[in-house]
Amino acid sequence: MWVKVLESAPKEGTMVEITVKDRDLFVTMNEGRLYCAENRCPHEDIKLTLGCLKGNRVKCSLHGYSFDLETGDSLEEDVDNMLTYPIREENNEIYIEV
Ligand code: FES
Repeated sequence: MWVKVLESAPKEGTMVEITVKDRDLFVTMNEGRLYCAENRCPHEDIKLTLGCLKGNRVKCSLHGYSFDLETGDSLEEDVDNMLTYPIREENNEIYIEV
């Protein structure tokens, strides 16, 4: 089911926190593309929006692991991948699939 989450796309390089169906997520625009993921590091329970974007990855502020914005891939064998969600823009409004 697609749900409208924002009235407009976030500015390039920023992460916007949203809550959808009791899930804490973030939406970001990176190099012109939209991404949505769970706003919780799979390593320990901390918001990924406290970290920063590096290329196409979000880097956690606590231990520095990073996750691919597209696939959620952690690159670490013992760290789960980040949960990502399909996202699209329609008439300037942002929708995610949950
Ligand atoms: S809590 Fe995010 S890398 Fe450890």
